[in-house]
Amino acid sequence: MGKIIRLSKRNLNELARIDYEAQHPLEKHLKAADYKRILRERFELGHEIFFGYKEGRELKGYAALKPFFPGHKHCEACWIAVRKKYQGRGIGKALMKFVEGYAKKKKFRKVCVYTNKALKRVRNFYEKQGYRFVNEFPGYYSYAKNNTSVLYAKRI
Ligand SMILES: CC(C)(COP(=O)(O)OP(=O)(O)OC[C@H]1O[C@@H](n2cnc3c(N)ncnc32)[C@H](O)[C@@H]1OP(=O)(O)O)[C@@H](O)C(=O)NCCC(=O)NCCS
Repeated sequence: MGKIIRLSKRNLNELARIDYEAQHPLEKHLKAADYKRILRERFELGHEIFFGYKEGRELKGYAALKPFFPGHKHCEACWIAVRKKYQGRGIGKALMKFVEGYAKKKKFRKVCVYTNKALKRVRNFYEKQGYRFVNEFPGYYSYAKNNTSVLYAKRI
C-alpha cells in the first residue's frame, strides 16, 4: 500500500522517468530527456499541482491538477501517468481519487479532464471513475492522425 505525496521541481527527474515508462500510446517517440524538458516548462509556468504515488522509496505514478478551468468552481486533472509495470493495480484510480478529494477541499465542484479520443483504454479508465463525456474537439492535438480530444467531467 503506497502513499500519495505532494511533489515539486526537485522530483523532475523521477517525473520524467514515470512519463517515459508509462509508455503513452501516442507519445512513444518521446524520450525521457524530452519529458524532462516538457516538465521543466510546466514547472516554470507554475500552473499545476503535482501529486505522486510512492511505495517504499519508489514513485510509481503521478497526477497533476490545474486549479482553474472555464466554468464556475471547475478545475482540471491535466495529466496522469503510471509506470507501465505497475499499471492495472489501482494506482491511477488512487491518484484520481486523491486529486478529487484535494479539489473538493479547495471548494471546487467539478473536475474536468481532456484526453485523446483514440485512447479507448484511458477513456474507459475515466468513465469507470464516474467521468461523463462532455464534448469532443477535432483538431485539438497536433498529431497528423488521432487529433480529436474528448472532454470529460465529474461533479465532486
Ligand atoms: C491511464 C493510466 C494512468 C491508468 O492507471 P492504472 O494505474 O493502470 O489504472 P488503475 O489500475 O487504477 O485502473 C482503474 C480502472 O481503470 C480500468 N482500466 C485500467 N486499465 C484498463 C484497460 N487496459 N482496459 C480496460 N480498463 C482498464 C481498471 O479496470 C480499473 O477499473 P476497476 O477499478 O473497476 O478495476 C495508465 O494506464 C497510464 O499511465 N497510461 C499511460 C499514460 C496515459 O495515457 N495517461 C493519460 C493521458 S490523458
